[in-house]
Amino acid sequence: MSAPAAADLQSSLIELLDLALQGKQAHWNVVGPLFRPVHLELDDIVESAHAAVDTVAERLSALGEVPDGRAASVAAGTPFESFPDGTVADREAVALIGARLDLLTANLRERIERLGADPVSQGILIGVEEAFEKHAWMLRVQLR
Ligand SMILES: [Fe+2]
Repeated sequence: MSAPAAADLQSSLIELLDLALQGKQAHWNVVGPLFRPVHLELDDIVESAHAAVDTVAERLSALGEVPDGRAASVAAGTPFESFPDGTVADREAVALIGARLDLLTANLRERIERLGADPVSQGILIGVEEAFEKHAWMLRVQLR
């Protein structure tokens, strides 16, 4: 990858793809009295992740790079711990996905600060960060 922003965009692409996978895993396997709202909220997060995945990948393509969203690349490159096997209690699912959003947004913030020379890529990651900081807030307040 040669464009200055390429590695940072590719790393975020991997994280967003894994977030979408883990969000669906949580959506299907959450249990408990808060099942319904958590189940629906997880799909909101997955929907945001899918939208962000496409925006970030197509920015890579526009820069003349080759976005890599293959399953093996996601598995090898994600910084997120694997989502637990089996069913997950509602508050635990909120905490687990919340922790992944905290890491996602912290990594985005570092990349955004590095991307000053490419304001278009920087702007894309700022938009992604805005969306996921909002999701992180909506999860965090449920654990109070
Ligand atoms: Fe569903």
